[in-house]
Amino acid sequence: MTTRGLNIALITGSTRKTGPPLVLHPRVNAFIQSTLESRGHTVTRVNPIDFPLLDKPCFAYPEGDAPEKIEKVHSVLKWAHCYVCVTPEYNHMPSPGLMNVLNHFGSSTFSFKPSAIVTYSGGQWGGTRAAVSLRTALSELGCLPVSAMIHIPKAQEVFNRDGSVNISKDSDSADKWAKYCSRCFSQMEWWAEAAVRQKEIVDPFDFSPVFLSSPSQRNAP
Ligand SMILES: Cc1cc2nc3c(=O)[nH]c(=O)nc-3n(C[C@H](O)[C@H](O)[C@H](O)COP(=O)(O)O)c2cc1C
Repeated sequence: MTTRGLNIALITGSTRKTGPPLVLHPRVNAFIQSTLESRGHTVTRVNPIDFPLLDKPCFAYPEGDAPEKIEKVHSVLKWAHCYVCVTPEYNHMPSPGLMNVLNHFGSSTFSFKPSAIVTYSGGQWGGTRAAVSLRTALSELGCLPVSAMIHIPKAQEVFNRDGSVNISKDSDSADKWAKYCSRCFSQMEWWAEAAVRQKEIVDPFDFSPVFLSSPSQRNAP
């Protein structure tokens, strides 16, 4: 375990309210949130359903001047020591709702913090293909995803509606899911703790300045 409780932004993916197919995000998000809280962290959710579709990204406004809904999420993302992204797989990709939230903010919001990827589906692959794409986006944003990921196949069978683990077929399953999640979350906690400590020594933005005018600043000579 880390030496301190972390501030975690839990960025959720699904915007679906009605099925079919059966809506799964409430149970998956509840399970992930309670797992993180049981590890001593403070979790704030970022819900894509309340968020405007991308027109002008947050970073295109003068500091603090974006519309209220965007600024509110911006402050949660800045407050967080690390990010947990929970997404269903839609056509082998992360949900557009999650990507919309991520796209509003630049790497200056996310960078120098770790992230963890959680994917799920109603089928047997647990969203693994979406996870691979999401990893690329999170890397680009600078909130490096830890190597262990959490994939939840057949989430409707794994969890009850309230997010508790369904132990009707296997009385050890809650323990098994806790251990599985621990592999990913302990990696994220280690990196988050390391980043917090290193920021006390060196400001990463002094050390590696953000792009001030254009992405072409990253071009090779
Ligand atoms: C538009 C759409 C695309 C989907 N694509 C996939 C897919 O690529 N792989 C998969 O395993 N399940 C896929 N599914 C099934 C989802 O895993 C399942 O519906 C799940 O409940 C979605 O999560 P949600 O209920 O939280 O929105 C898809 C569902 C929808 C609605």
